[in-house]
Amino acid sequence: MKKIAVLGCGTVGSGVVEVFYKNRASIERKAGCELDIKYIYVRRPHPEIAYQDKLCFNFDTIANDPEINIVVEVMGGVDPAYRFVKTCLENGKSVATANKELIAKNGAELLSIAKQHHVNILFEASVGGGIPIIRPLHQCLGANEIDDIQGILNGTTNFILTKMIREGMSFSDALALAQQLGYAEADPTSDVEGIDACRKICILASLAYGRHVYPEYVHCEGITKLTAEDVEYAKDWGGVIKLIAKASRDPQTQKISMLVAPMFVPFESQLSSVDDVFNGILVDGDATGEVLFYGKGAGKLPTASAVMSDVIDCAKAADTIDTLYWEDSDNNFVEDWRTQPMQSYLRLQLQYRQQTALINELFDTPVLLARKSQPETEIAFITPPLTPLQLDELLSRLSDEGISVLGSVFLA
Ligand code: HSE
Repeated sequence: MKKIAVLGCGTVGSGVVEVFYKNRASIERKAGCELDIKYIYVRRPHPEIAYQDKLCFNFDTIANDPEINIVVEVMGGVDPAYRFVKTCLENGKSVATANKELIAKNGAELLSIAKQHHVNILFEASVGGGIPIIRPLHQCLGANEIDDIQGILNGTTNFILTKMIREGMSFSDALALAQQLGYAEADPTSDVEGIDACRKICILASLAYGRHVYPEYVHCEGITKLTAEDVEYAKDWGGVIKLIAKASRDPQTQKISMLVAPMFVPFESQLSSVDDVFNGILVDGDATGEVLFYGKGAGKLPTASAVMSDVIDCAKAADTIDTLYWEDSDNNFVEDWRTQPMQSYLRLQLQYRQQTALINELFDTPVLLARKSQPETEIAFITPPLTPLQLDELLSRLSDEGISVLGSVFLA
């Protein structure tokens, strides 16, 4: 019998306990051994939690209990999760975690500690909720060089954008509903400002390219500045706006480009129809070509499903799983995003109609977009490929002419 301790009993933690006891027989069959949850660690009493006999308020009891083989960390945040996970690994316990913040910040170090102690730290649930993506990347796609990863990695923002576009719901109502459904982070700023998606693409890039990519080296924008008008122009262009996280590697230089931002996605792209809380991740392998991973990217039971898959692997593994590993790095292999040319959609407020001549001159006759009830002095168009540095320069020239930016979104 292998014993499990669950650290945290919020949305995901309670889901883990629920899924475990619901599907225990088949989980044990797949793990090849009997399993039980011995402790549920919480910081204060929770009378609503079933299994009151398993509640534990002292982490040291878990850390020092030799019967505990597997620890599930679903507390979220870095403190005290980092300290607890590190202690468990050093004490010879494998860890299954859903904590993307922790892995994006300390993944290289924790993987190395796990290796030294012949245990595992597994984090399938940290990216894509219930979608298998971590295991496919380092196992099923292990024979590929990964040229490109791009995806919708945050369920909350995708849910909000879908509700705003399809049902005309306000941003704040859609966010409140996402929180009620247990999709959003404790502080939803991480969702709506793109920080959560950034952590996730960093985890995927670290795994695909073998070196830790730290979130602070990745340019990240959220969805809070988007308007209904931007959505209308995207439709006229032939697509939708999605919060996209991207990582790609230049085969010549081996440098990688990373970006998280709302982007115009053409209707032909499979990502354009990924709606609601669903996530979609396109991985381009040099042997497989594009592979799409799709499913619920957040929520109690989908995330618990991914955590339990790690518990099963922790129970089965006799030693550290070698393919799940990346080195620490100084991130000098991450390109400066401001030097990467990209097309953009721009919506500008002119002072008078004749200023379109200046736009045509600066942007070399750009492709114009239209929407219903478009004021005469509003112009929207797609720019040619420009680096963010070049774009900033042009926008500052426009600003000198009294032209202001109402909306700006990159093309995927
Ligand atoms: N807040 C996250 C999301 C939860 O909305 O995708 C899953 O990581």
